[in-house]
Amino acid sequence: MLYIGVDLGTSAVKLLLMDREGNVQKIVSKEYPLSFPRPGWSEQDPNDWWEQTKAGIRELLEGADASRVAGISFGGQMHGLVILNERDEVIRPAILWNDGRTVEENEYLNNVIGRDKLSQYTANISFTGFTAPKILWVRKHEPENFAKIAKIMLPKDYIAYRLTGIHCTDVSDASGMLLFDVKNRCWSREMCEICGVKESQLAKVYESYEKVGCVLADVAGELGIPQECVVAAGAGDNAAAALGTGTVGDNRCNISLGTSGTVFISSEKFGVDRYNALHSFAHADGNYHLMGCMLSAASCNKWWMEEILHTKEYSAGQQEIAEDDLGRNHVFFLPYLMGERSPHNNSKARAVFIGMSMDTTRADMTQAVLEGVAFALRDSVEVARSLGICPERTKICGGGAKSALWKKMIANILNMKVDVIENEEGPAMGAAMLAAVACGEYPTVEAVAQNCVKVVETIEPDAELVRRYEACYQKFKELYPACKGVYEIL
Ligand code: XUL
Repeated sequence: MLYIGVDLGTSAVKLLLMDREGNVQKIVSKEYPLSFPRPGWSEQDPNDWWEQTKAGIRELLEGADASRVAGISFGGQMHGLVILNERDEVIRPAILWNDGRTVEENEYLNNVIGRDKLSQYTANISFTGFTAPKILWVRKHEPENFAKIAKIMLPKDYIAYRLTGIHCTDVSDASGMLLFDVKNRCWSREMCEICGVKESQLAKVYESYEKVGCVLADVAGELGIPQECVVAAGAGDNAAAALGTGTVGDNRCNISLGTSGTVFISSEKFGVDRYNALHSFAHADGNYHLMGCMLSAASCNKWWMEEILHTKEYSAGQQEIAEDDLGRNHVFFLPYLMGERSPHNNSKARAVFIGMSMDTTRADMTQAVLEGVAFALRDSVEVARSLGICPERTKICGGGAKSALWKKMIANILNMKVDVIENEEGPAMGAAMLAAVACGEYPTVEAVAQNCVKVVETIEPDAELVRRYEACYQKFKELYPACKGVYEIL
């Protein structure tokens, strides 16, 4: 049988066709626009997601035996607010995970309701990108839209709804709404009250690997797939990516270098750190995870190469960086192009280049961008280490993971072994694996991960380079506190 994994990302939807053994038959990617209506705002039209997902599925199945498609599931950009009226029509463009408009609502939740209560109800505190502060923003700034809300959904769940007609979500994605009691895997009554929403306005929650339903007859006809094709709930993109790299069970780590950058540590036990610096979410394998999320990771490199240097030749740019210059750069880059989530929780933060002199080259600055992202990932790893959680190796996935140089920097800056897997597709792969479990092809998420994920190379940190980068990281750590006051007046 065949399984389709849909990764509903920020710049594109990526679709992957996988067989029982985890062999990837085909990958298709379809872009859609992202709009920034005001500085720090970030929106998308859910209808674009749906149209491009349908186009993607059709293209994916060209030349394949579509009658063998047994299941579909998802990994999706998290936290986005999709609101539907009572006719299930989209009320306004979705407000995305990297949107920073909710500064006031975020402060209200953290400081007036209070971090302790939020943590007690949901295992997390508020961050501007989370869903609950967005609901409060719509209530205050668009009361006419708020009054029309019949259903509140997350991005990938809108696609599941269009496929099945069922309003559903899964535990991992629901965890990022700040409306979900992560420990007990159910909606939080207290948070619903605080946000002025009824539980009936939220979707039914499933475990990620559970079957939600089958594809609607007319949609199945339009896509050319069997009507009995199973739709599984799926997961937030990071949980799906973790599954796609085999990061399940206890104390395993995955780094995702996509538009956002995340450090994901799986855990069999529920846990919260004292300052809630890392998110504590449910995992797609039925357990839990801790996660640090930086808002701009591979997107920093994209911005630098495409917007500033006007080139798409990423690897040519990286070839200008000499091996010997690693750990010796005088230029530093703070990667806060969209503000920052973990660990600073500051939507006013902005990117900074510092340390240039007359002999600074373009290559030094490209190097600083790549290193700045790796240093910021280390900030999250350091929070985990301070809690005694010290995985000594990590998997890696996402667009940035295609760069051998970046992977080497990460191994040495984090001082961790980096296991490279055969298929770095992350969320789309994890999504297809969830579909296979929902169809009964595998008994558990662990079993599918064990069978389908193959490590092909390990990048070992080099002691001398680790030492040089340690000195650089100590300098990097001083830069955010030095800039913090300035961000207030920018
Ligand atoms: C995670 C987060 C991002 C998005 C990106 O908390 O906000 O990783 O899920 O798609």
